Amino acid sequence: MARIIDISREEELAMAEGRRLLIAGELVAIPTETVYGLAGDATDADAIARIYAAKNRPSFNPLICHMADLAMAERYADFSPLARELADAFWPGPLTLVLPLKPEAGIASAATAGLATVAVRVPRGFAGRLIAETGRPLAAPSANRSGRLSPTTAGHVEADLGNRLQLIIDAGPAIVGVESTILKVEGETITLLRPGGIPAEAVERLTGLSVTRPATPGAIEAPGMMASHYAPNAAVRLNASHVEPGEALIMFGAPLIDNAEAAHVTLQLSKTADTAEAASRLYDVMKQADQSGASAIAVTPIPHDGIGEAINDRLARAAAPRPKDYD
Ligand code: TXA
Ligand code: MG
Repeated sequence: MARIIDISREEELAMAEGRRLLIAGELVAIPTETVYGLAGDATDADAIARIYAAKNRPSFNPLICHMADLAMAERYADFSPLARELADAFWPGPLTLVLPLKPEAGIASAATAGLATVAVRVPRGFAGRLIAETGRPLAAPSANRSGRLSPTTAGHVEADLGNRLQLIIDAGPAIVGVESTILKVEGETITLLRPGGIPAEAVERLTGLSVTRPATPGAIEAPGMMASHYAPNAAVRLNASHVEPGEALIMFGAPLIDNAEAAHVTLQLSKTADTAEAASRLYDVMKQADQSGASAIAVTPIPHDGIGEAINDRLARAAAPRPKDYD
């Protein structure tokens, strides 16, 4: 099993061990403000191959390359003035920019799945410092097996991938709790490839541009947007106003629910109906509902504005028909 180092007690050790393993081409689970990432040196093709293998991830689904700062990101991607404006406003933070790749800069082509673009982001906190210390961009998808819920604690990573990597760096529960917002920036067009920790409205306020949603979500060029993703084992039912016997009930605030006493277990995303709190608890609560042995999971409505867009996106994917339903 993986060694776990807690940065609240042994930050220097976590830094030294993380750096040593990453430079040697090994994988390390790292804390970020969004979710835990399964990190490897983005310039090392063998390390990238290990990431895809550990996650069982299809190799056509490219990885986000994490940078220490904007200057480092500019070595690997072409920034237009608009891209730079976004980076200046939101980095470090939960925003990923899909930009033209500088092909000679050394990112392993497997990391971008051979695309002419690269997804870059600068995470907050320990991860950013680790990247600076290591001096390499780190490719890091969420540290879960492909198609499963993303991990927001070191314990989640250990349960899902603990036998497939050497080190998990523990910084406590992730603060944001859902993945980064992914924007593709082309000329003056900003396309929302994945809603996430930075609300689209904040991007629109900053730039004065409207953010375009892809016409057919799920069919965009980069397929982290596959309809069934972020899936627990139990079936998920959205916008619930009643409970079927044996269902787990996930509440947001205190809506009136028919037959609430029939719930197998009742879990709360945010008593005060705060979407930021709900985002930070989403994956943990989904895992608890899933592990409760309930027949299905019913979720009460959650507003769609701000980070609510990302929460509803993840819930819709969790509720979508699963590939395994068809085999
Ligand atoms: O918050 C996050 O973004 C977390 C933490 C660890 O940073 N990472 C994460 O990575 O969610 P992952 O691999 O689970 O999701 C990356 C998404 C995928 O949907 C992938 O298709 C998309 O980014 N992506 C990566 N490169 C792309 C590219 N060149 N063009 C379009 N989409 C891209
Ligand atoms: Mg993921």
